Amino acid sequence: MNIRKILPRVYGQLVSNINTSTPCCTTVRLQHGKSDVNEHRAKVMARGLPEKKPLPKVKSIILVASGKGGVGKTTTAVNLACAMKVIEPDKEIGLLDADVFGPSVPLMMNISGEPMLNDDNLIEPLLNYGVKCMSMGLLVSGENAVVWRGLMVMQALERLTRHVAWGPLDCLIVDTPPGTGDTHLSLAQNLPIDGAIVVTTPQSAALQVTKRGVNMFEKLKVPIIGMVENMSHAICYKCGTKNFVFGNETKKTADQMGLQIIESFEVDSNMSECINSGKPAIYALPDSIHAEKYRQLANKVFKYISDKDKDKAEAEATKQ
Ligand SMILES: Nc1ncnc2c1ncn2[C@@H]1O[C@H](COP(=O)(O)OP(=O)(O)OP(=O)(O)O)[C@@H](O)[C@H]1O
Ligand SMILES: [Mg+2]
Repeated sequence: MNIRKILPRVYGQLVSNINTSTPCCTTVRLQHGKSDVNEHRAKVMARGLPEKKPLPKVKSIILVASGKGGVGKTTTAVNLACAMKVIEPDKEIGLLDADVFGPSVPLMMNISGEPMLNDDNLIEPLLNYGVKCMSMGLLVSGENAVVWRGLMVMQALERLTRHVAWGPLDCLIVDTPPGTGDTHLSLAQNLPIDGAIVVTTPQSAALQVTKRGVNMFEKLKVPIIGMVENMSHAICYKCGTKNFVFGNETKKTADQMGLQIIESFEVDSNMSECINSGKPAIYALPDSIHAEKYRQLANKVFKYISDKDKDKAEAEATKQ
């Protein structure tokens, strides 16, 4: 079934608004009035934390986040999801692009086309490199400017999580937008998140914002698996000297926050070429140091999940 033909039915007012040239929030304002929207939002927030409902047949959910933009969150999420599939081919891995403002997973995973609906009216994720993917970029055409605000973001995320046929999945990797805004709140309040990986560059501006992100996750009771330092340094291709182009403050900041740096990636022009051509380094350059490090990161995430499962099982057993 073609998704665009039945979008209004499936997504109701939300996506039919998106597919017009009018920015969504304008439409919402027309329907409700700005103050009504804000009032409603405040009421929703005032109700406190909603009950977190698991996604059917999804065993674990891992967020990839950072306060700062452009530090390599999506690069990390894409390569991590692919590496998890490579090292454990029998496991089902999903990748959710929760960046409704600037979705880049379709480009980086080389997926395009309109997703189909299954008999249960759930959107079928698109599959590439063995990873099930879903992104707002697949549902909204690129040239339409979409302005997302508060409740609109929450509704969009609800669609991308609960209206997608994700299951069965062993792990869903969620790529998030920069910042500490509605997306993170909504995900953390509605889904049982098993852990977050915080990506940062060694630049003090990035690290300051990363601290805010870490504080937010602590408040939301989302455990942090560790920090991924991206663009740690660049190596001169002529003399091999290490250049700390963005500074060298990550370890100090990680120690201050009591976090571990679970992997560190240097600047490498091949990385951006791979990602721009839609073939993640894990596949395009499997023998590269970056690919090896992504496999190590994937192993760490699998270990984290399995330790967490054991803890859950033990806690259940003590209850009985
Ligand atoms: N280690 C690296 N070496 C070289 N280029 C990199 C590296 N990591 C990421 N990049 C490049 O940096 C750019 C930003 O990466 P990416 O889109 O993953 O960041 P992001 O944090 O998801 O950004 P946004 O906040 O906009 O979502 C991309 O062009 C990517 O190819
Ligand atoms: Mg991104």
